[in-house]
Amino acid sequence: MKKKFLFVCLVAAVSVAGFSQKVPTYLDDSKPIEQRVAAALAAMTLEEKVALCHAQSKFSSKGVPRLGIPELWMSDGPHGVRAELLYDEWSQANWNNDSCTAFPALTCLAASFNPDLAHLYGTAIGEEARYRNKSVLLGPGVNMYRTPLNGRNFEYMGEDPFLASRIAVPYIKGVQSIGVAACVKHFALNNQENWRMNVDVNLSDRALREIYLPAFKAAITEGKAWSLMGAYNKFRGQHCCHNDLLLNQILKKEWKFDGVVISDWGGTHNTQEAALNGLDLEMGTNTNGMTASIANSYNSYYLANPFLQELRSGKMDVSIVNDKASRILRLIFRTIMDRKRPFGSLATPEHAAVARKIAQEGIVLLKNDQQTLPISPSVKSIAVIGENATRSMTVGGGSSELKVKYEVSPLEGIKSRFGKTATIDYSLGYGSGKYQYDKVAPSPYDALKLRTEAVAKAAKAELVVFVGGLNKNSEQDCEGRDRVSYGLPFEQDLLLTEILKVNPHVVLVLISGNAVEMPWIKEVPAIVQAWYGGTESGNAIADILSGDINPSGKLPFTFPVKLEDNSAAAFGEIAYPGDAKTHKQEYKDDILIGYRWHDTKAIKPLFAFGHGLSYSSFQLSGFATSKPSYQAGDSIVVSVQVKNTGKYDGAQVVQVYASQTKSSVMRPKKELKAFQKVFLKPNEAKKVTIKIRTKDLAFFSESAKDWKLESGEFVLHIGTSSDNIVKSIPININ
Ligand code: GLC
Repeated sequence: MKKKFLFVCLVAAVSVAGFSQKVPTYLDDSKPIEQRVAAALAAMTLEEKVALCHAQSKFSSKGVPRLGIPELWMSDGPHGVRAELLYDEWSQANWNNDSCTAFPALTCLAASFNPDLAHLYGTAIGEEARYRNKSVLLGPGVNMYRTPLNGRNFEYMGEDPFLASRIAVPYIKGVQSIGVAACVKHFALNNQENWRMNVDVNLSDRALREIYLPAFKAAITEGKAWSLMGAYNKFRGQHCCHNDLLLNQILKKEWKFDGVVISDWGGTHNTQEAALNGLDLEMGTNTNGMTASIANSYNSYYLANPFLQELRSGKMDVSIVNDKASRILRLIFRTIMDRKRPFGSLATPEHAAVARKIAQEGIVLLKNDQQTLPISPSVKSIAVIGENATRSMTVGGGSSELKVKYEVSPLEGIKSRFGKTATIDYSLGYGSGKYQYDKVAPSPYDALKLRTEAVAKAAKAELVVFVGGLNKNSEQDCEGRDRVSYGLPFEQDLLLTEILKVNPHVVLVLISGNAVEMPWIKEVPAIVQAWYGGTESGNAIADILSGDINPSGKLPFTFPVKLEDNSAAAFGEIAYPGDAKTHKQEYKDDILIGYRWHDTKAIKPLFAFGHGLSYSSFQLSGFATSKPSYQAGDSIVVSVQVKNTGKYDGAQVVQVYASQTKSSVMRPKKELKAFQKVFLKPNEAKKVTIKIRTKDLAFFSESAKDWKLESGEFVLHIGTSSDNIVKSIPININ
């Protein structure tokens, strides 16, 4: 008995000693991350380091199984967590536990001009990604809106680098507050879908620095994004996924990025450049990002065996793989190995409420003659017409497609809000083909028959709500191909014109992520830009149409009258879409895109950047700046009183643009340098103070290859839209 007792004590003693044996540093989350990275690297073999640098499946990359370091799982996209795909196929896995909340497309978030909502958005989508056990959320996209034909504009934040920066930073911070990495994309100059895999963009350093990089720079230096995705296209002859200037010189050296550069899916093209020009994690090789690739070819990835050979033979120094592996380990420790991070949640009522609030604040009231809106409760019959009143808008668009728990269509939203006081009569009016990613499905409908039925219903109703626009089908706001025309598709113009002949009381609700041509603009009394509003879009649209919510959105991009008025269309094929043979492209519009182009060239737009009406009216007064003149390094404080002189609760966005009176180089007529959204009850007034840093008034000098702030007079233009400046105040920079 005694012997047995002694034996048990011995075993117990050994096992306690064994367990109290030190946890290796890399597994000890009481240790600083940099120590854990160094310790893990020291414990890893060359093969294990190389294995970290490339995919092991469609959306995952290896960890270090031997050391208990988990693998990285990533998911699209910027508007919600994509349905689970099969391990090595592009088809959905058909799980029954991955239905999500679809948040509004990022153009809608940008249109809210509300950075607080961007943080709310990031936190909520971060919670859904966390709950779905994804360590990297492949968003937000911050490419600039240069042409209204770009298929993916709906995924981005408009034409102004300052607005995009102010919205991207809190979105990223929100996502990462849940222990999920944001992945800001597509770095850089991915401003069209045509030839996206190889179009070779060139532009001036000044345009690169002043227009196309600022939102990425803010995402990295202020948002502290833990990962970034290289773009498919080339920049000055080198693919962006392994581009020395963009990734080594600017991103990692100048901006001190300590995260992971992830390739776009299929954006990696050779081992030498991938190893030496700043790529850290190769994903999706042999695919165009949306369709098939060679199955199980992961060991043949450029950063797999070929890279291992270069290292083993000594042709490449081991420091090259150490840097990549360190960055990937840092990402793992910041996410899946952070045991203190929250657990997230999926498709909750709270997230749906966030989606609805963002959709409400992003909807832009473009036109509202004869007080057509809000719809009076006395209206007894409403004809709802158009395919976009019923068509799902959370599917399609490409990689940002979603499988939602539910989606409220505009028709459902209108029925639930107005159905008690009015008869709601729906007709399709026009129809498009079923969703296809890489080809345009023809419309299976008899257009004349649909049109005749719709016009007949319009004639009988008091009010028509026409819900049209684009639909995230190929060439209709979709990844992979640009739009082929600026006008509305499927003969919507004809249908609208026919309806207006029988009933002038038409509210047009545009569902799109792009500007469209409006030949009927004079005849339509009310127009609402409703974006792709996500899970609660139908309710948000009804909230606005009914006046339950007063619209406060502002356009994040210009609506040109005709395509030729757009900057990218003004310099021939080389400027857009690029040379048909060489696929070389020159951004000849340079720093003048969007309102910068329209204002400087005096080309009146259909609707201007920053434009958005309200059911209320607002008065701006009491303009002042802190001083008449400033030294470099000072902050300029602008104050203005805003009063709600209408009868609805509402919000106004005070926008401050700046111009330099006499400069040594051509500068845009004015540029957005600050904005603030202010919420006011009827007759309420608030004093808004806005800070601008003098360095934000500098331009990027081509000769000095650096930012330059010249002394002299500048003018601050304060207003509620780029084409509604209420007061201009000159100041001096000494
Ligand atoms: C796609 C897109 C990118 C997406 C990735 C994975 O081609 O360009 O935005 O995150 O591939 O689907």
